[in-house]
Amino acid sequence: MVLVGVAVGGALALVAVLIPWLPSADSSEAHKVDDVYWFVTIICMAIFALVAGVSVYAIWKFRAAPDDEEDGSPIHGHTGLEVVWTAVPAALVTAISIYSGVVLVQVERIPAEHRVIEVTAQQFAWSFTYPEAKVTSGQLALPINQPVELKLTAKDVIHSFWVPEWRMKKDAVPGIETDVIVTPTKLGTFTVICTELCGLGHAAMRAQALVLTQAGFERWLNKEKEAAAAAGSAQGKTLFTQQCGTCHTLADAGTTAEVGPDLDKVLAGKNADFIRKSIVDPNAEIAPGFQPSVMPGNFGESLSQQQLDSLVEYLLDTAGKG
Ligand code: CUA
Repeated sequence: MVLVGVAVGGALALVAVLIPWLPSADSSEAHKVDDVYWFVTIICMAIFALVAGVSVYAIWKFRAAPDDEEDGSPIHGHTGLEVVWTAVPAALVTAISIYSGVVLVQVERIPAEHRVIEVTAQQFAWSFTYPEAKVTSGQLALPINQPVELKLTAKDVIHSFWVPEWRMKKDAVPGIETDVIVTPTKLGTFTVICTELCGLGHAAMRAQALVLTQAGFERWLNKEKEAAAAAGSAQGKTLFTQQCGTCHTLADAGTTAEVGPDLDKVLAGKNADFIRKSIVDPNAEIAPGFQPSVMPGNFGESLSQQQLDSLVEYLLDTAGKG
């Protein structure tokens, strides 16, 4: 019977270990985390097998015979056994905490050479800012085999960053900055998942994480930069048509009004500072043949900083080039 028990236990343990329960481990941190996981799991399996085996054996061996109405024999415990079943779990739990602590320190150590990406969570989306390139994207892109520090924060409530294949996971909390260190080791597309219940859209709060080659990463960054510039320019053109086109001529926007100066003429060859000043403080310099105080002087307040930037950028790119 003991042999049958050992055989069944062994077979089940093999099944448990051979089934791929975990997602593939695709960062250098993932293997360390998995080692802790299996260390704990194997200890649990051994303890469970021992306890279940002794229980089943005791139930079978010491069961009452039919018609046995006697009281059980009076037992006052066993000091030796109690010492063992207190000392062994204490030693195991201590070993688990020491091992986990060592791995935690290893996977959270910030390497000297690393890239920084700022991660912002809000209901219900992730955004990723690449400070060196001054680009913000809805996608997380990383070059393979390079350590990255993800600086997490949140705008509204607590969210939690997790990419299962990288194993690394951490809360994004409003008002503070937390960080995740990760070194992806496999190319491909992964999923960033929010793992903190953050509202109605929580389950849909996902983003793509792309692990690219170094060259692919640089191409991706450039593409994002161009897309951001194109979006800014489109916004600048729309703003111009709405806010400026009724008074000014600009070939690129197709406006022909003559209340104010023809911008293709007065802005040709001018720099961004001049254009910005002309928008927020129009009386500072009046083009020959025009009167001061015709143009409203409050664009500095009515436009947001970001709108003003895109307008200046647009005029810088188009005025005099139509
Ligand atoms: Cu954000 Cu759940």
